[in-house]
Amino acid sequence: VTIRDGERVHLVDRKGRVYPVTLRMGKTYQHSGQTISHNALIGLEDGSAVTLSGGNKFVVLRPTLAEYIMKMPRGAQVIYPKDLATILLWADIYPGATVIEAGIGSGALTMTLLRGVGEAGRVVSYEIRDDFAERALENIALYLGKVSNHVLHRKDIASGIEENNVDRVVLDLPEPWRVVPEAVRALRTGGIFLSYLPTVPQVARLVEALQGSGAFGMIETFETLQRPWNIEGRSVRPALRMVAHTAFLTVARKLATPVLVDPDATIEGP
Ligand SMILES: C[S@@+](CC[C@H](N)C(=O)[O-])C[C@H]1O[C@@H](n2cnc3c(N)ncnc32)[C@H](O)[C@@H]1O
Repeated sequence: VTIRDGERVHLVDRKGRVYPVTLRMGKTYQHSGQTISHNALIGLEDGSAVTLSGGNKFVVLRPTLAEYIMKMPRGAQVIYPKDLATILLWADIYPGATVIEAGIGSGALTMTLLRGVGEAGRVVSYEIRDDFAERALENIALYLGKVSNHVLHRKDIASGIEENNVDRVVLDLPEPWRVVPEAVRALRTGGIFLSYLPTVPQVARLVEALQGSGAFGMIETFETLQRPWNIEGRSVRPALRMVAHTAFLTVARKLATPVLVDPDATIEGP
């Protein structure tokens, strides 16, 4: 399918720098004093080379979800693709699942979850800030168009999850331990709780709350590091800089038979 009017595309220069453009018939894109009309981009094949008025060359690309997230307008800080990818498997997001999420932030996690649950599934977001909610809904619409299986509640998730028997609860908010009692009530047995948290004291407090609830087992916390490499002729080595820390992921499974967790027990490795 060729590139259409109204679509968001990325212009990528020779150094790999990315410039997002939302295409509108009749408009002109400007970059470093050089221009190209949007009409010249509309109708092109994905991945076509284009030349600006002054001779600068770019490739026009329809962004992948990860690329779109890194360049979309942000209200709140987004979850990076390395963590979004990990969340999909560790929270075991599957087609047809009902997933509760909070807060919506900029909508990066929401879009990722919507992909995972597919059209047969449902994503329900909770968000306390109207400005973030609006931004997120615009971001989602710009990439996914009209979505019929997404619901947004503008409220504190700790004050009550309105849905019952849900498959997954995925949290990116500063005080997830406040949500544990509601997550226990709303999750089906075998359901999964996942929380994304930037600091160690937060993780310690959350795990204590999960253990204390007596409702969860298989509680684990880990982080993922993505180290990019530089491959240029003979220079084959790790990149000099990396995103060294984003957050820890804590995952837990709701059990049918509650177990008491002994905090002093040693857990065997895999
Ligand atoms: C870091 S942002 C989430 C970013 C989002 N995961 C993304 O990838 O774009 C955290 C969000 O949680 C919201 N929030 C914080 N506490 C909340 C609560 N108790 N209930 C609902 N939303 C909450 C904040 O307003 C903020 O929008």
